[in-house]
Amino acid sequence: MYSIDHKDLGTPAAISNEPVTLDIDGSPVTVPAGTSIMRAAALAGTRIPKLCATDTLKAFGSCRLCLVEIEGRRGFPASCTTEVAPGMKVRTQSSRLLQLRRGVVELYVSDHPLDCATCPADGHCELQDAAAELGVEGSRYASGGATQRGALQDASNPYFAFNPDLCIVCSRCVRACDEVQGTLALTIEGRGFESRVSASQHESFVESECVSCGACVEACPTAALTEKSPLGLGAPTQAVTTTCGYCGVGCSLKAEVKDTKVVRMVPNRAGTANKGHACVKGRFAFGYATHPDRIRRPMIRQRITDPWREVSWEEAIGHAAAEFRRIQGKYGPDSVGGITSSRCTNEETFLVQKLVRAALGTNNVDTCARVCHSATGYGLKHTLGESAGTQAFTSVMQADVIVVIGANPTDGHPVFASQLKRRLRQGAKLIVIDPRAIDLVRSPHIEAVAHLQLRPGTNVAVINAFAHVVVTEGLASNAYAEARCEVDSYRQWKAFVADARYSPEATEEISGVPAALLRAAARIYAAGPNSAIYYGLGVTEHSQGTTMVMGIANLAMATGNLGREGVGVSPLRGQNNVQGSCDMGSFPHEFSGYRHVSDGATRGLFEAAWNVKLASEPGLRIPNMFEAALDGSFRGLYIQGEDFVQSDPNTNHVVAALSAMECVVVQDLFLVETARYAHIFLPGASFLEKDGTFTNAERRISRVRKVMEPLAGLADWEVTMQLAQALGYPMHYSHPSEIMDEIARLTPTFRGVTYDKLERLGSIQWPCNDAAPDGTPTMHVGSFVRGKGKFYLTEYVATSERSTSRFPLLLTTGRVLFQYNVGTQTRRTANLAWQAEDRLEIHPDDAEDRGIADGDWVGVSSRTGDTVLRAIVSRRMTPGVVYTTFHFPESGVNLVTTENSDWATNCPEYKVTAVNVVRVGQPEAWQARIRAERSAQRSPALR
Ligand code: SF4
Ligand code: SF4
Ligand code: SF4
Ligand code: FES
Repeated sequence: MYSIDHKDLGTPAAISNEPVTLDIDGSPVTVPAGTSIMRAAALAGTRIPKLCATDTLKAFGSCRLCLVEIEGRRGFPASCTTEVAPGMKVRTQSSRLLQLRRGVVELYVSDHPLDCATCPADGHCELQDAAAELGVEGSRYASGGATQRGALQDASNPYFAFNPDLCIVCSRCVRACDEVQGTLALTIEGRGFESRVSASQHESFVESECVSCGACVEACPTAALTEKSPLGLGAPTQAVTTTCGYCGVGCSLKAEVKDTKVVRMVPNRAGTANKGHACVKGRFAFGYATHPDRIRRPMIRQRITDPWREVSWEEAIGHAAAEFRRIQGKYGPDSVGGITSSRCTNEETFLVQKLVRAALGTNNVDTCARVCHSATGYGLKHTLGESAGTQAFTSVMQADVIVVIGANPTDGHPVFASQLKRRLRQGAKLIVIDPRAIDLVRSPHIEAVAHLQLRPGTNVAVINAFAHVVVTEGLASNAYAEARCEVDSYRQWKAFVADARYSPEATEEISGVPAALLRAAARIYAAGPNSAIYYGLGVTEHSQGTTMVMGIANLAMATGNLGREGVGVSPLRGQNNVQGSCDMGSFPHEFSGYRHVSDGATRGLFEAAWNVKLASEPGLRIPNMFEAALDGSFRGLYIQGEDFVQSDPNTNHVVAALSAMECVVVQDLFLVETARYAHIFLPGASFLEKDGTFTNAERRISRVRKVMEPLAGLADWEVTMQLAQALGYPMHYSHPSEIMDEIARLTPTFRGVTYDKLERLGSIQWPCNDAAPDGTPTMHVGSFVRGKGKFYLTEYVATSERSTSRFPLLLTTGRVLFQYNVGTQTRRTANLAWQAEDRLEIHPDDAEDRGIADGDWVGVSSRTGDTVLRAIVSRRMTPGVVYTTFHFPESGVNLVTTENSDWATNCPEYKVTAVNVVRVGQPEAWQARIRAERSAQRSPALR
């Protein structure tokens, strides 16, 4: 049977460069100081029996199975908790040790059935291994009947089950939940034979605080905690290392496969972004890939009111090409465009923008980053010189002060959040700037030193007030800023933020943040010494999104918090490859590597490589495409993996624009909401069905490897290639590695990237070129990418979206852990067990004023539209602010959001919508219909 089991060295690696030489069983062994004897022996090829130790957790020393003899020391020390010392002489085998170890195993066996042959863990159980190794077949000890046998199993979690009968109370699960995940959901209750694992307050796993990350299941040495999937599908026969298709953390996963089926996903311990951890989505929620709703045949129809007709790939692609050419012939070359997908690979997004520019002859290409982090690209490029985050995730472990602005890492970027929480438990200070009390504000062993619960839309006022305190209290790092930044811009900025109108006292009324709290937080940030800012869409999705990004960069430059580990400005990017889709030239004004289309030299490079004349004017952004569709000048759109109708603001406007087009081509896994307005549907391929690369939020390029054949026969890059050919533009690649070679030839920041190098290094953080052949974990070391950093003046301009007597509350939006983006994937998994609808969070005072109780249906209306949601009354909100997610189409949240957008990038202002909320009797009829349709689609085999 195939086994993915890695060599468990028993305890984590020591962080030391000092070598220590000792003698183990007569042979010299040299290891770093601080290494355990157990690990040193394992590194030298000697396995010491163990039960409570594993190399992902700190040594615990409870099972006493790993005893050794040390010359000159009395007794039998545990090798997992005893560190090596120079000249130490260790014996790992002796008759006395054998006797002691047998006794330990017999004790465990007395409380544990030895019916290994019928046990699901047979062959993967460390107790079974130890018993076999020590020749133990039964136990002399009786448990007196007070064992866990017969205790109720807990199968409440859809993905794993707990069988107390098989538990040896080694506490590895409890420690995994504490140390790896940071949720602290488990405890060991009772003593002796009555000890048992308990989730939260004697709750079932699914009802407890458990977030279903699976770290405990992975840590369990027996079958007490077992994944359900392998039980149903049989043992895997091979493993393929790939990258998670969900969020921007980019966890490396090993897909264990039997035949063509994924049996389970195992987080890769060698994965640099995740180091063997994952969240519920990446580890468990992959079943959507084979869900019955997947569309496996191309389809076309004349009008969007016609029924779909299944056709061959050839017919569908030929029809799409003919339609685009017909439209261009009638309305001009710029009457069509394309949208790249941040869920697709770098190679695929590169091909779509190449198709649009080279085959369709227009720069009308855009991507979903338009509606999330376009402001990050613009803001960081102008201030620092590069449109990406400055740090590796591991940098957070060097941070003394961590500022989280408009992000909810425990829900949006869970594996990074686990690392961040580890640093906080070590003592780093946390400042949260968010209208909502996210989990990080207060969770086990973590409490923010300051939570600045600002009014939505006032970010810039708050960041300017931070800067005001730094400058006026003499806390800026003048030497750093003057040496590394444009001095004139620095001086102008200092004078600007020093103005009294930006004092915390003057801005308190605007933002709602008490001046004293803001002053204290700014002082903590400035004092550092290492202060790092992590931010999310709560920064960018505002009419002043770009201004806020610039304000953050200004603050970091002024305090010297850039260009080394532990500091920096890190956007937490949402989708798996949103960084990559931006890098690959998905914006209408930029080629790959963020080079403007009007730059003749760059354009010449692409024209020579692509053998075609390219347009020099930027094309249309997504909102401009919609406007142009409504005014009749934009008629055809190729949309790869993006669901505008659910994700973009002002749904009615989006629907009107799509309905006005003559040819909408949707390429996706499922008939998403946008497909209702499509004329041609091309089946997409999931991340399991193709080769390529994703780039995560820390600029890390990682391989995506094909685990199974595309269900519809073609990977997305092959479809784009065939569409280009049908349009008469030659595009021929036999493997995505050839596309990456072209990207590297044409993109300075990717110049050194090859599949061979990715194979060798595991992953690479761009820039990767002659100057940095193995990549660049930390940006702006020594100098900024643009040369001198530039300060921009960040005048606060209030959004036009304000609460009024008609719309007295401000609605802001976000996401939850168990669902992802528009929910296309996660709604087709068992994650519905935790979250099956979007809800409106409302403060008790606002709820009481309106007679709203928990669970009531509430009508939410804005100047744009209205919808109905179920209410949750919650003190997470500040009075006057309500919150919801947008994972379910029937919630219609984007019927309510407005078309306000960022001044520089058109990133929509999702985070501020003035609304009225009233209690109503039931959802709208259209919502009930969509909900019923969705329920009918569900498969009993959800995973
Ligand atoms: S459930 Fe597994 S890991 Fe947890 S205490 Fe029991 S045997 Fe150990
Ligand atoms: S699944 Fe994760 S959160 Fe849940 S108990 Fe296990 S380690 Fe803790
Ligand atoms: S944290 Fe993100 S990348 Fe990692 S497993 Fe979860 S969803 Fe996937
Ligand atoms: S493995 Fe060392 S005491 Fe359990």
